[in-house]
Amino acid sequence: MNVADLRGILNYVPRYRDRTFIISIEGEIATEENLPSILTDIAVLWNLGIRIVIVHGIPNLGPQHQLDPDLSGQRPIPAAELDIYITAASRLTHKILEGLAARNIRALYPNAIIAAPTGILSGADQLTSGKVTRVDTALLNQILSQSLIPVLSPLGFDGEGHTFRLLTDSVAFEVARTLKADKLIYITAHDSLIGRDRLSEQLPVHEAEKYLDEQKHKLPTPLLTKLTHAIQACRMGINRVHLVDGRVDEALLGEIFLNEGTGTMIYANDYQSIRPAQKKDIPALRNLMLRAEKKQELLPRSRQHIIANLPHYSVFEMDGHLVGCVALIPYPEEQAAEIASLCIHPSHRGQGIGRKLVSFLENTARQKKFRRLFVVSTQAAQYFQTMAEFKPIDPSELPKERLQIYQQSGRNSIVLAKDLPN
Ligand SMILES: CC(C)(COP(=O)(O)OP(=O)(O)OC[C@H]1O[C@@H](n2cnc3c(N)ncnc32)[C@H](O)[C@@H]1OP(=O)(O)O)[C@@H](O)C(=O)NCCC(=O)NCCS
Repeated sequence: MNVADLRGILNYVPRYRDRTFIISIEGEIATEENLPSILTDIAVLWNLGIRIVIVHGIPNLGPQHQLDPDLSGQRPIPAAELDIYITAASRLTHKILEGLAARNIRALYPNAIIAAPTGILSGADQLTSGKVTRVDTALLNQILSQSLIPVLSPLGFDGEGHTFRLLTDSVAFEVARTLKADKLIYITAHDSLIGRDRLSEQLPVHEAEKYLDEQKHKLPTPLLTKLTHAIQACRMGINRVHLVDGRVDEALLGEIFLNEGTGTMIYANDYQSIRPAQKKDIPALRNLMLRAEKKQELLPRSRQHIIANLPHYSVFEMDGHLVGCVALIPYPEEQAAEIASLCIHPSHRGQGIGRKLVSFLENTARQKKFRRLFVVSTQAAQYFQTMAEFKPIDPSELPKERLQIYQQSGRNSIVLAKDLPN
């Protein structure tokens, strides 16, 4: 992590204060060595003033029990089996409370999940298998308002003191929905959605639905139920749901605070935007462009140059991260403008962001009545030709002032232009 990352993270501090995150820890993760590291990440979030509810699953009970900790399907659960789940869940709740105590965080286990029996399915009484009927949000809010962390398990109670075994993913979903959480985070023992070519990515909810439709028969049950609940959560007003691989060290903090992320984020809306660059963006802009400058993809621009040209820069923001930038440098005498410093963060390339920024500048240039857009490129000439219909031109056609810089740079870049008839 470098200084720019730290500055980026500090930007989040006021933004996330008093926000509510529901963090669901899959049972299998509880037996992983990484649980203490997850609790440390949770402690960091809590120390930033984020309201946190932890929901945990049932840990793997070992080969001696032919049980199903993830409750992968609805099936009858006899009372004797429920007893085993209660013991295993209580142990894990205790382990989490211990871990939080060691990090100076007070937490408690409230009976805030009201449940009812699943009843009879396909003629079979499901016995102690249950479903969430209500979340006691007043109780949870009371706990959260005292900076305590409620720790919940997949066990619910009815008004008569009966206990029911619930699906962990749906407990987390119901808590997130009823508390109107800002984020629902599923920490799983799976590394990614299968068939996707990247581990970390962002999926708009409609794409997640399409993916689910195509892959539902191939997905392992824990991912299937998480994805189903993630989509439902997005449709019900929770804007971001994250699936994070809990076996990776610092994965939780990485997913929330770093541009690259480490898991999959499914998002509902208003999450991307192109906006004018502001002074506060300068460190992130520099950081973004430096990588490309080192690879000679971009002409090096000093901090002073960026400051002087800041009004010409636009940035592409995703969930508070600056993931792309571009500048429209005007040459009013020639009624022309240059597309400069187009750069997309490597972890967000190939998602159409470059195209969106170029088309945004094209519209802006038209509105400003420029007659020609041009770009000077060493490595993206093909991109501008295929994606935005630019054509190579002779460098001598550049505006005079720009031609001088071109000649001094000695980069031998390709010059392309697109005429914009008014
Ligand atoms: C060039 C760049 C801006 C493209 O941004 P992006 O958001 O990844 O691109 P999009 O998602 O809009 O388009 C992706 C498509 O462009 C293609 N593409 C990406 N970079 C390319 C390049 N340098 N040359 C040719 N094609 C390229 C991809 O293969 C992909 O093709 P497909 O849709 O057929 O699969 C980005 O790669 C970048 O920041 N590069 C480093 C800086 C740079 O070179 N800037 C240009 C300065 S003139």
